[in-house]
Amino acid sequence: RPSIVVLASGSGSNLQALIDASRERDYPGEIIAVGCNKPGAFALERAAQANIPTFVVNHKDYGSREEFDGALMAELRRYNPDLIVLAGFMRILTDDFVQAFRGKMLNIHPSLLPAYTGLNTHQRVLEAGDKLHGVSVHFVTEELDGGPVIAQADVKVKPDDTPETLAERVQKKEHLLYPIVVSWFCEGRIQLGAHSVLFDGEPLSQPMRL
Ligand code: GAR
Repeated sequence: RPSIVVLASGSGSNLQALIDASRERDYPGEIIAVGCNKPGAFALERAAQANIPTFVVNHKDYGSREEFDGALMAELRRYNPDLIVLAGFMRILTDDFVQAFRGKMLNIHPSLLPAYTGLNTHQRVLEAGDKLHGVSVHFVTEELDGGPVIAQADVKVKPDDTPETLAERVQKKEHLLYPIVVSWFCEGRIQLGAHSVLFDGEPLSQPMRL
């Protein structure tokens, strides 16, 4: 089975969804390690509970983005995974780092990209009065939250939503979507082409919809 390292910074609910999925008998990938940039993050506890090795590269121990990424890269090289899955990993990665893992790194982002890159997406969707929100899984490229989108899931915005209620419904979709997209990668069905996602060898004209 292709090997996966998951990188997380926070509660790790997406990590948990991936752990649960990868325990299914036919799941095509195996999580071999979990890395984190925050020493006390709950994601580390989830990994430990599942007997998955963990490592911490604390960004506060490094003077620059380049040094932090260098240390992270060294850990990743030890595991040499087929795929790196960013699951709420809240660090901006350097171009060198991204290029080193081109086509082998996925991210999940809580919006219907290309709308609302960056932070506080739920709040911004509400402020804009949008009726539709959602989640995207994309290949990581040098452009922040800008890599080709593989798949999306919609969430309807309700009139009485708060950023918290919206986030909760978006996360439910995240937990369904991410294990599916990761399984496609592990089965060799998705690849990063020159400018687009290749699905079963054909360029995707639009993201897959859950
Ligand atoms: C998720 O909602 C993910 O989409 C978001 O962080 C959350 C992590 O939750 N990611 C980003 O905002 C990336 N810019 P989790 O730690 O419970 O999986």
